Amino acid sequence: MGKLTNKYAVVTGAGKGIGRAIVERFLEDNVAGVAILEMDIDLANATAKELDPTGNRVIAVKCNVASQEEVHNAFEQVFAKFGRVDILVNNAGITRDSMFHKMPVDMAKLVMDVHFYGTFYCCQEVIPGMRDRAYGKIINISSVSALGNVGQCNYTAAKSAIEGFTRTLALESGRKNITVNAIAPGMIDTDILKTIPEDIMKQKIAAVPMQRLGQTSEVASVASFLASDDSSWVTGNVILCCGGQKIKA
Ligand SMILES: NC(=O)c1ccc[n+]([C@@H]2O[C@H](COP(=O)([O-])OP(=O)(O)OC[C@H]3O[C@@H](n4cnc5c(N)ncnc54)[C@H](O)[C@@H]3O)[C@@H](O)[C@H]2O)c1
Repeated sequence: MGKLTNKYAVVTGAGKGIGRAIVERFLEDNVAGVAILEMDIDLANATAKELDPTGNRVIAVKCNVASQEEVHNAFEQVFAKFGRVDILVNNAGITRDSMFHKMPVDMAKLVMDVHFYGTFYCCQEVIPGMRDRAYGKIINISSVSALGNVGQCNYTAAKSAIEGFTRTLALESGRKNITVNAIAPGMIDTDILKTIPEDIMKQKIAAVPMQRLGQTSEVASVASFLASDDSSWVTGNVILCCGGQKIKA
């Protein structure tokens, strides 16, 4: 028995990085099945094969979460394979950083489409079934940047939208035994940080009380808690997972 025995999950953007670590952790927790919804299908197929060579518990489905049609088609495939989804992790994400005065509006819309609308579309696919069965766990990956970060007005707006959405969906879903929470990671050692120049990274790490980057497994362990019945009385929260980065003295 594990914490996620008999549960079926979807994790978006899980070809690599935080999403992949969440899939790995869910497998350790004995999840019955997990679908990776990923734009880069070759990466997702390789990850699925590596994590589950039998192909029985991990499936890869091509999906750009910014497209409502692709999200709908992807969930049709997931429902055909697993029958239902008990746990949804909205993790897929990108950054397109620029100072506001130089940022083309398309750059803001793209980031909003992937993060906020991607989360919205995926929730629309699972909420009806979760309400019918009176059971569900939704985990939205936000960021400490939701509180504000120079060069990321598009990303901070999208993550703030996700946090507001999380609270309202929690209010609307509580009576149906569906919990909705967000995790706000600080700097986690993944490819998404590779666009940040080395000198700036050094300054940023120096400002973290724990003086290091976080690891993907450290976000996955929070996701494991929120996906399991250990968190049955936890809903509408944004859990910071950032080595103390946002402590105000
Ligand atoms: N790494 C960090 O420091 C950090 C900090 C805070 C929040 N986050 C958030 O964590 C999440 C995961 O980030 P990561 O660091 O693992 O990034 P990553 O770049 O390592 O992985 C992101 C994955 O999402 C996929 N993806 C991107 N756009 C997609 C789309 N439209 N549809 C489907 N899949 C898509 C990519 O192909 C990739 O596999 C993101 O939401 C990110 O904003 C990351």
